[in-house]
Amino acid sequence: MLSGALSQALAHPKRLAGALATDPIGLFEKLQDRLVQRWEYRSNPVHIHQPSPNWENDLHQHLGCDWPCGAQTEFAALWPKVIAEVREQGINVGPASFAGFNDGDRALLRAIWCLVRHLKPLNVVETGVGHGFTSRLVLEALVRNGDGHLSSIDRPPLDPVMQRRIGIAVPQELRRCWRFLPGSSRRCLPRLLSQLGTIDLFIHDSLHTERNVRFELDRSWAALNPGGALVIDDIDSNGGYGSFCGTFQGFRGLVCEAEPIRPDERRFNRKGLFAIVLKECPSAGAKITTPAEELASRQPRE
Ligand SMILES: C[S@@+](CC[C@H](N)C(=O)[O-])C[C@H]1O[C@@H](n2cnc3c(N)ncnc32)[C@H](O)[C@@H]1O
Repeated sequence: MLSGALSQALAHPKRLAGALATDPIGLFEKLQDRLVQRWEYRSNPVHIHQPSPNWENDLHQHLGCDWPCGAQTEFAALWPKVIAEVREQGINVGPASFAGFNDGDRALLRAIWCLVRHLKPLNVVETGVGHGFTSRLVLEALVRNGDGHLSSIDRPPLDPVMQRRIGIAVPQELRRCWRFLPGSSRRCLPRLLSQLGTIDLFIHDSLHTERNVRFELDRSWAALNPGGALVIDDIDSNGGYGSFCGTFQGFRGLVCEAEPIRPDERRFNRKGLFAIVLKECPSAGAKITTPAEELASRQPRE
C-alpha cells in the first residue's frame, strides 16, 4: 500500500522536489490522502444505495416547482454547447478524463442547474474543479439569476499539464463572480466558510474518501441555510454519504443515478451515483423562501 503511493510520487522526482520545496505540508497531506484512499477502497470498495427512479420529480416537488420545468429546457440547450467547447480544446470529456477523476456527468449537472435556477442561492461553494463543468454550469445559472457568487476549492495535481486544464470549461466572461481557491478542502474550506458565514448550496466533487467527504459535509452542513442543499458526487465509491445520513437529521436525501457520456467500467452499475441533501426549513410544510427572496424582503421599500 505504502509502496504504491510512494512509487507513484517517486516516478516524477523533479515535481516531487518542487512540491517539497514550495509546500512540504501540502505534499505530506496529499500522500496521507492517497494512503487513506487506498486503504478505504481496498477494505470496502463499493457502497450500493438504491437510486430513486423519480428523483427529478421528487426534487422539484420538494422545491415547490413543476416538473418538467423551464430550467431543464435551458440545460438541454446549453449542455451540448459546453461539451463541444471543451472538446474543441482537445479534452476527451467523460469518466477518468482529469488525472483519473471524472468530469461531472449530465444528470449531476442537470440537478445542479435546476437547484441553482430554482433555489436562487447567493453563496455557492464547491470542492473539486477539474475541467470545470460544475463550475461553468453554476456560474451560467447564477448569471441568469442575476445574483449570487461561487467559491471553488481545488488542490491541483502536480502535473503541470493538468494544472493548466483546471477550469478550462469556464470562459473569461463568467469569472467575475467566481473565486478560485487553490489548496485542499481540508485547508481551505473551514476558513472560507467562516468568511462566508452561511451558504445556500454546497457541491462535493473533490477527493472521494469517507474521511474527506465527512470532513467537507460536516462543515458545510453547519453553515448551510435552511432550505439549502448539499450535492455529493460518487457516493457509491465511499461510505461518506451513508455515514452522514446516520449522523445528521432534518433533511431529505435523494439518491440519483449518474448519466456518464460513456460507461464507467469502474462502477458497480457502470454509471455511478450521486446524492442531493435538502435541508428542511424549521416549520415543516412551510414554503421555501429562496436566498434572493429573503434578501429582497429585507431591503427597505420605496
Ligand atoms: C472529479 S474532479 C472534479 C470535476 C468537476 N467537478 C467537473 O465537473 O468538471 C476532482 C477534482 O478534485 C481535486 N481534488 C482532489 N483532492 C482534493 C482535495 N483534497 N481538496 C480539493 N480538491 C481536490 C482534483 O484536483 C480534481 O480537480
